[in-house]
Amino acid sequence: MLQRPRRNRQSAVIRDMVEETRLSVKDMLFPLFVQAGSGKKTPIVSMPGINRYSVDLLLKEIDECANLGIRSFALFPQVEESLKDSIASESHRKGSLYLDAIHAVSSRFPEISLLTDVAMDPYSSDGHDGIVKDGQILNDETLPVLAKMAIAQAQAGSRLIGPSDMMDGRVGYLREALDGAGFSNVGIMAYTAKYASAFYGPFRDALESAPKFGDKKSYQMNPANRREALIELELDEAEGADFLMVKPALAYLDIIALLRENSHLPIAAYNVSGEYAMIKAAAQNGWLDGEKAMLESLLSIKRAGAQVILTYFAKEFAQLTKA
Ligand code: PBG
Repeated sequence: MLQRPRRNRQSAVIRDMVEETRLSVKDMLFPLFVQAGSGKKTPIVSMPGINRYSVDLLLKEIDECANLGIRSFALFPQVEESLKDSIASESHRKGSLYLDAIHAVSSRFPEISLLTDVAMDPYSSDGHDGIVKDGQILNDETLPVLAKMAIAQAQAGSRLIGPSDMMDGRVGYLREALDGAGFSNVGIMAYTAKYASAFYGPFRDALESAPKFGDKKSYQMNPANRREALIELELDEAEGADFLMVKPALAYLDIIALLRENSHLPIAAYNVSGEYAMIKAAAQNGWLDGEKAMLESLLSIKRAGAQVILTYFAKEFAQLTKA
């Protein structure tokens, strides 16, 4: 036998030498949830280890994560039901919980990167990512709301926005709105291929943001579709996106690889709440080694071609690798 692949697997040092993919905390972006009040830390039942924080404790949590080497975060707000309406007014109201939180985080930690979320659903009394009329999600009527939100976030200190809504044309619309308001340095991480997925369940628990009727299939992509992701890629590139994102990650590794092969922009992948919950639940039952399953799945996302991984495992990964 001339070729014996096992020769390169025979010791730890040789295995390390030929290792093709290595995870670093620098690859990761840690999503966090903020809620009103002070001194509040509320566990998310379907996401063991993840909490919703009031702003004071959020700052503490970010400080702790920063000391572990995490430099990138995303932030999502839980909005009180009484503040929700059909046009998401709360999403761009000065003095809102979310805008105040962005301001607090970006002024206290100027060196970190904070991805701020542009979408109506946390503020919408319909629980949808667009304005609803007669059961339809209106596209072009939603764009100005998203633009107000993006500009308000930039004014509050955001340097990177993440439109997670999937309305057509929103990347270009937001790019133009930001530029027009003097924010040409604010980047856009586009949710390029965001699928209508069952894996968002625990996130909607965390924010109480589930749609009040129907589903999101008229705007999020059909999980059966691969070529359609290339249409979204071409549009987001042409409209000025700075990052392209695939979401979820684990059931869509082929889509991550596809985007990686077809664009020169950095590719991000969102290892979503349900993907986190599955591993945690199995580990709690003693059915899986949670730590190994975490590392293997994060590795697969990077190997598929993601340069940035949004993951609820970021802190655990940082703790594990710092030790
Ligand atoms: C909605 C939004 C969702 C997530 C991020 N932004 C859920 C949805 O589309 O209903 C899900 C993230 C996760 O599951 O971790 N704008």
